[in-house]
Amino acid sequence: MDIITTPIPYGRQHITEEDIRMVVETLQSDFLTQGPKIKEFEEAFADYVGAKYAVAVNNATTGLHLAATVLNVRPNDKIIVTPMTFAASANCIRYCGGDVVFCDIDKDSYLLDLDKLRVLLESSPQGTYKGIIPVDFAGYPVNLENLRMLANEYGLWILEDACHAPGGYFIDSNGEKQYCGNGKFADISVFSFHPVKHIATGEGGMITTNNKALYDKLCLYRTHGITKKPMQMRENHGGWYNEMITLGYNYRLTDIQAALGISQLKRANEGVVRRHQIAQNYNDALKKIKGIKTPFVEKGHYHAYHLYVIQVEERLGLYNYLHANKILTQVHYVPLHLMPYYQEQGNKKGDLPIVEKYYQHCLSLPMFPTLTDEEQNWIIRKVIEFVK
Ligand SMILES: Cc1ncc(COP(=O)(O)O)c(C=O)c1O
Repeated sequence: MDIITTPIPYGRQHITEEDIRMVVETLQSDFLTQGPKIKEFEEAFADYVGAKYAVAVNNATTGLHLAATVLNVRPNDKIIVTPMTFAASANCIRYCGGDVVFCDIDKDSYLLDLDKLRVLLESSPQGTYKGIIPVDFAGYPVNLENLRMLANEYGLWILEDACHAPGGYFIDSNGEKQYCGNGKFADISVFSFHPVKHIATGEGGMITTNNKALYDKLCLYRTHGITKKPMQMRENHGGWYNEMITLGYNYRLTDIQAALGISQLKRANEGVVRRHQIAQNYNDALKKIKGIKTPFVEKGHYHAYHLYVIQVEERLGLYNYLHANKILTQVHYVPLHLMPYYQEQGNKKGDLPIVEKYYQHCLSLPMFPTLTDEEQNWIIRKVIEFVK
């Protein structure tokens, strides 16, 4: 008999009474947008990841677009992107007219493969590429120290898509923790607050950087390219006066969302710790099962476990079996170079064999802090039942 009555999603938000109280308080305040909650959220988030500056935006997709804009991506600029990610990681380059060049992933970490990246860079004249977009896929932190060294050899900027990884870190060659998005090695990092992510604000995102000039530009482009800073204006007619000095956007987060984000951020650490417990339970139960590959974690990497991805021979069968048993697993992701849009840009099946093989077998099991032991035991039982 089924012990689970309501479907278990692969990820979901957790909203507490305190979250609701914070949102209601903001609804009753003077500012629904462009008020004090934005700065408060930005400062708290910058502090959480260890970056100097943070810019709140209305989602990570617009955050990535702003980042690509201030990194000066121009038509026909070539940018290297991992194919194992959500479309937005690459689309930001297309919004600016740049060309996306995909590089294959490592078969264990599922992150951009540095050896393959080196081969790609060496096979083209210096100056061919302008930047790289690595993704801390599933919450597994990219070793940005190593990537930075390679990027420096070729004069490339790094835009880290850290949407899966707030709270994740790797230990660098000096033995120091380097949190995802801390701005030490990447020029800019971007986070998402979509409800399946670690921190939920409905829609929402955050950009972090340690570079003041980039920070100033991000703020400018977030709000229409309009400034009131005397230093940036040609004229000044009085207190009301502002100038639009470049073509920007309205990519602002509201104070209502920021209030929710501030409240959620207070529990972010707890959430990552709980995700680790869940991962440990899955590992203990599934690691030794023939036909299942559990996530690889190299020593010195603290996974943020946005996703818990297994590899399994009969993926479609397992997916259907779990869905029939109210376990709503998901596949992350269809490799981007196989999307019809990116095939129209000249990519084709067979170009990136490692990511294509990964895609044939990957499945994300439910992973979110409020997953109960009862639910997890049910998931484990059903996975093993099918595989055996
Ligand atoms: C890796 C990655 N990058 C970017 C995004 C875009 O985030 P948003 O939905 O906040 O625009 C997502 C969201 O799923 C993502 O997973």
